[in-house]
Amino acid sequence: MRVVVSDSHEAMSERAAAEFAAAVAANPTATVMPATGNTPMEMYGNLSRLRREDGIDFSKLRIFQLDAYRGISPDDYRSLYRWMMTTLVTPLGIPQEQVVRLAGDAADPDRECAVFADLVRDAGGLDITILGLGPNGHLGFNEPPSPVDAPTRRVPLTPESMVSNAVYWGGEQNVPTEALTAGMDLLLAARAIYLVVSGERKREILARTIDGPVTPDNPASFLQQAANVTIFTDRAAWGDRPLP
Ligand code: PGA
Repeated sequence: MRVVVSDSHEAMSERAAAEFAAAVAANPTATVMPATGNTPMEMYGNLSRLRREDGIDFSKLRIFQLDAYRGISPDDYRSLYRWMMTTLVTPLGIPQEQVVRLAGDAADPDRECAVFADLVRDAGGLDITILGLGPNGHLGFNEPPSPVDAPTRRVPLTPESMVSNAVYWGGEQNVPTEALTAGMDLLLAARAIYLVVSGERKREILARTIDGPVTPDNPASFLQQAANVTIFTDRAAWGDRPLP
């Protein structure tokens, strides 16, 4: 694991964007699975700026949706598909035809998951995943416990995730109780994995992710065994520990 500790969330977001842009310059048709959530939003804003100001071309990327709430249509303003489209895909000029949606509203979610995983494999796997870190150690919606080879599947949300997502749904009671998520198997096989983690609220789970036991109870701990992982973080999340 490579850990890059920046002074602030802003600096972390710039650094992660610069590294991603360099990776895209080297591989313009990369397959990418980007997280939603708050943490990568400023990184995505920086990517738009790099496109505008430095003319970086993101338009050939192929995008695979990381996770989706079950039963929520892609047009719903709370859908993770729409969030990804408005903050990343559209601003970067990536045509919609190059996006593979994970359809949370599919009539047969188990079949949807199998078809989606096959599409990732048919594309040759993922070049880059951009992940956030759940307060409970989830990656995407691979909620604990998730084994290292957990497939793309339907998952019940943990009470912790329902609490942390309540803000988007006007209260915990309105949060969907299930999600679909790209599996640990796909995420961990990516040729580059970026984990973006910021703020004091993530300090404990970040420490456990880097130094704690490798266990399904903290799915992010499997990153210790994955190839080519970079953790972009800030001092608030890193705490007082010696810098890497
Ligand atoms: P956050 O979400 O970036 O909004 O903190 C991370 C996650 O729960 O996966």
